[in-house]
Amino acid sequence: MPIDTMKAVRLHAFGGPEVLRYEDAPRPEPKPGEVLVRAHAVGINPPDWYLRDGYRKLPPEWRPQVTFPLIVGSDVSGVIEAVAGDVQGLRVGDEVFAMVRFPSYGDSAAYAEYVTVPVADLALKPPGVDHVQAAGAPMSLLTAWQFLVEVGHDEPNPLQPQPHHPVPLQGKTVLVNGAAGGVGHFAVQVAKLKGAHVIAVASGEHEAFLRGIGADEFIDYTKGKPEDTVRGVDLVLDTLGGPTTGRFLSTLKPGGALYPVFPLGFTGAEDAAKQGFTVSMTQVRSNGAQLAELGRLLDDGTIRVAVDSTFALADARKAHERAAEGHIEGKIVLTVE
Ligand SMILES: NC(=O)c1ccc[n+]([C@@H]2O[C@H](COP(=O)([O-])OP(=O)(O)OC[C@H]3O[C@@H](n4cnc5c(N)ncnc54)[C@H](OP(=O)(O)O)[C@@H]3O)[C@@H](O)[C@H]2O)c1
Repeated sequence: MPIDTMKAVRLHAFGGPEVLRYEDAPRPEPKPGEVLVRAHAVGINPPDWYLRDGYRKLPPEWRPQVTFPLIVGSDVSGVIEAVAGDVQGLRVGDEVFAMVRFPSYGDSAAYAEYVTVPVADLALKPPGVDHVQAAGAPMSLLTAWQFLVEVGHDEPNPLQPQPHHPVPLQGKTVLVNGAAGGVGHFAVQVAKLKGAHVIAVASGEHEAFLRGIGADEFIDYTKGKPEDTVRGVDLVLDTLGGPTTGRFLSTLKPGGALYPVFPLGFTGAEDAAKQGFTVSMTQVRSNGAQLAELGRLLDDGTIRVAVDSTFALADARKAHERAAEGHIEGKIVLTVE
């Protein structure tokens, strides 16, 4: 029997944006517990280019063992095309969005016309947002939510021995660094929703945008270092993170917390604990139940998805080149004909 094909963006080797190849690929079939989704839009995220690049930034033992050709991507919004025999409550034609199988990956992923999605990873797309907005939400919004509100699972944390416990935000002062980016612009809105006073740190071009989504204060990091001027913060969510994230400890109140979203390279957590600070992090995981809850907030406009730019799926390479330029405001999304 001939195998059905589809268009997909595949890697045949690791490398720069030029290794993303738009080509024919076998169309996947849903396994038990899965549906087949015809993609309308695909959200792109940093793990897509970490994988494209062979996870060169990660310790060797963390690098993925993959078989080429490989499709990348996790975030999708589309329409159910087929349903496995054991799946109940979902039908062909339902509009859904998902972060698919993250942090694991398999033979079906999001940069494609069709992707198989475990039912546990998806939620119905909120009718109040279009597919581009819905595809922009899953990973970044789940990251903000799982860091700031509810982790949503009991899996061991590969990034630290103790579990991550979000702190209540009502009445707290929260600083979000990298506030205009995918995770950052959702973190600003989630912190506001939960009753925090929010300080957004980004380059100056994003000030009006960030005030428009609820930031109470804005700091242009190109004009001065936030850690030199800000004091009395309860919580810093540093979406940039990395080796220098400890510079934000000086902005914290006694007993305050620092959450580096990208923790690799930071070695000061023990010293920070001796000074009475909490440094804590988690790794985002697929969670359809949380997406359903967040979908209600997207539907009524409580949380907005900002779209930096869109590219056709066939132009995934250009989308990755845009991402590499930096200064992203919201999300980059691929559209699928
Ligand atoms: N732990 C997890 O599970 C998890 C999940 C998702 C993402 N992440 C990580 O989180 C990080 C952010 O992801 P993202 O999707 O939000 O990235 P993104 O969309 O590329 O956003 C990065 C933002 O940072 C801003 N920025 C750059 N340099 C800055 C600086 N020095 N100070 C303040 N802001 C600066 C950029 O704009 P401007 O420079 O113009 O302000 C941009 O808006 C990535 O490293 C990603 O790997 C981790």
